[in-house]
Amino acid sequence: RGKRAFIAGIADDNGYGWAVAKSLAAAGAEILVGTWVPALNIFETSLRRGKFDESRVLPDGSLMEITKVYPLDAVYDCPEDVPEDVKANKRYSGSDSWTVKEVAESVKKDFGTIDILVHSLANGSEVSKPLLETSRKGYLGAVSASSYSFISLLKHFVPIMNPGGATISLTYIASERIIPGYGGGMSSAKAALESDTRVLAFEAGRKHDIRVNTISAGPLRSRAAKAIGFIDMMIDYSLENAPLQKELTAEEVGNVAAFLASPLASAITGAVIYADNGLNAMGVGV
Ligand code: NAI
Repeated sequence: RGKRAFIAGIADDNGYGWAVAKSLAAAGAEILVGTWVPALNIFETSLRRGKFDESRVLPDGSLMEITKVYPLDAVYDCPEDVPEDVKANKRYSGSDSWTVKEVAESVKKDFGTIDILVHSLANGSEVSKPLLETSRKGYLGAVSASSYSFISLLKHFVPIMNPGGATISLTYIASERIIPGYGGGMSSAKAALESDTRVLAFEAGRKHDIRVNTISAGPLRSRAAKAIGFIDMMIDYSLENAPLQKELTAEEVGNVAAFLASPLASAITGAVIYADNGLNAMGVGV
């Protein structure tokens, strides 16, 4: 039987989530997607109208099929957590069952089990503010959307994951080195995500035979990254200073995810794996 993957955090064909989906599909996995509620409409419309068809092409020439797209807001664990103003918001009221618990229940109802869980989402409303100027609300919001969201996904999906399964998130080196411009508590959120990767690897490994890893990816011109504002500078910096002087493609990171999700990586868990042309290994720019 082929494997089934749920990928949270795809809303267009530019980000890491899309590339991970493609690499997993190329390796034969069935693809389920969780799309942020406010982005759902445009994503589904674009998919239906063939706007992504060129980027759906897999190495064998076939098109990646997305079996089902689920609306998801990973900031809310269950319906009781959703504030009234969000419930009433036009962009939310058009969909239902999009809290983490409900999405896991829907996937269980539709498909029974999954084998691979991918977290490719982050949000920090004050990302362009220095940490020193970040509000408590902004900081906690960044950690809620970018770190706790992974714990919540794991908590609700692990019970429907087959033993031997794999979970993967995406992180950034701003967690461990100073990257001015990656503010608003996003650096803190990535540090939490990496630390949680280790603890969750222990807990999910012992209890459920599930692996937990995170990919520390180099800079990519995704929608989220463009919103931060310094992405072109980071790409140029990497081109100049990394051991491998080529632009990093989303596909290269997607392939690492496919490897980590595969039996080839059966002994890897609790790891931060760099997919960044080696930039993390440099001590000085040259
Ligand atoms: P992206 O814009 O393709 O992906 C972020 C996704 O998160 C979007 O689809 C957005 O709709 C979704 N999202 C935001 N809040 C959400 C919520 N509350 N519930 C559900 N979905 C939500 O951008 P990108 O850059 O591909 O991001 C994917 C992951 O890769 C993130 O964790 C990011 O931090 C990480 N990453 C990105 C790098 C880059 O240079 N682009 C570098 C290293 C890591």
